[in-house]
Amino acid sequence: MKADSVVIREVMLRDGLQNIPDFIPTHAKIELFLLIVASGLRNLEITSFVSPKAIPQFRDATQMAQAVLKVNPEGVEISALIPNLKGAQLALESGMRKVGFVMSVSESHNINNVRRTREESIDELKKILELKATYPDLDVKIGMATVFGCPFEGKVKPEVTLKFIRRFYELGLRGMSIADTVGFGNPREVKEMSDLCVREYPDVTFSIHLHNTRGLGLANSLAAYEGGIRIHDGAIGGLGGCPFAPGAKGNTSTEDLVFMFEEMGVHTGVDLKAILEASRYFQSVKKDVRYSSSILEVGVPVLKGPVTKDGAEQKWSL
Ligand code: COA
Ligand code: ZN
Repeated sequence: MKADSVVIREVMLRDGLQNIPDFIPTHAKIELFLLIVASGLRNLEITSFVSPKAIPQFRDATQMAQAVLKVNPEGVEISALIPNLKGAQLALESGMRKVGFVMSVSESHNINNVRRTREESIDELKKILELKATYPDLDVKIGMATVFGCPFEGKVKPEVTLKFIRRFYELGLRGMSIADTVGFGNPREVKEMSDLCVREYPDVTFSIHLHNTRGLGLANSLAAYEGGIRIHDGAIGGLGGCPFAPGAKGNTSTEDLVFMFEEMGVHTGVDLKAILEASRYFQSVKKDVRYSSSILEVGVPVLKGPVTKDGAEQKWSL
């Protein structure tokens, strides 16, 4: 990774789709996957191995995983969300080796989301880790939800999250995601939390998962970048949201994240025009949902001329 660079992890095929009530045909999901990969995005969450009763949108998780792994583009990290042991087993059977186990750091949301106390989730995680005896290449990361606030309990203290990070670290996990599930975080606390994580656990790769519920998604992402986090989740079109978190809205849009970082000279490796093709393809598949992405709405600025009236160098003009 270049010094000034970030990895944008595209979660539209998981977080985006789980909040759209209708089932999107598998072939359309695969087409979207191909367009996303063609744009240069190299890290994707492609589905969720969850109960089809809880989230019917992923009843094709096995087919989706198999289709995507068949393509298996070089250098692309493909993962899936799992909420329990059964999810891990199904993921492994379909060929997946990278999974993100989800647990909320607030008790009430964990119970609402995965019907377990946090301790029960950790017990489940231990069982999942035992699967490494059979599948040594199983790569389990932890996704901590509600780090910056819970829809049922309000703000969550950083110490609560840090306590769980310690537990996960002791279980051997070295890939961890901190999530603002309902958009309660502000840039100052996101920076402080990111700083703390990166400083206290230098051998853990942290990522950040932000929802733009109240318009702070980009600012929070920048704060996490300044705090040292280099993997940032985004969803094309700004889609997404947890169906078990009242008031949850979309993720920070990938288009806007790429634009912000590239404008700052922080390399993403993503071709913005190509990612817009992916977003527009999905808009043609699903017109009746609320997209939330400035770049998708107004487009990429176009260079009209190198010099402005007063002679200063001009970068963009609309
Ligand atoms: N994948 C597919 N099916 C699953 C499953 C999984 N990971 N986990 C459970 N099931 C099935 C069971 O086989 C059972 O089916 P049946 O009724 O036909 O026998 C049914 O779902 C209920 O099983 P149960 O053991 O009661 O489920 P659970 O209590 O262990 O787990 C969850 C419930 C977690 C699976 C469910 O609440 C869920 O999938 N939640 C989704 C959470 C989520 O993705 N939130 C958004 C992302 S943050
Ligand atoms: Zn999310």
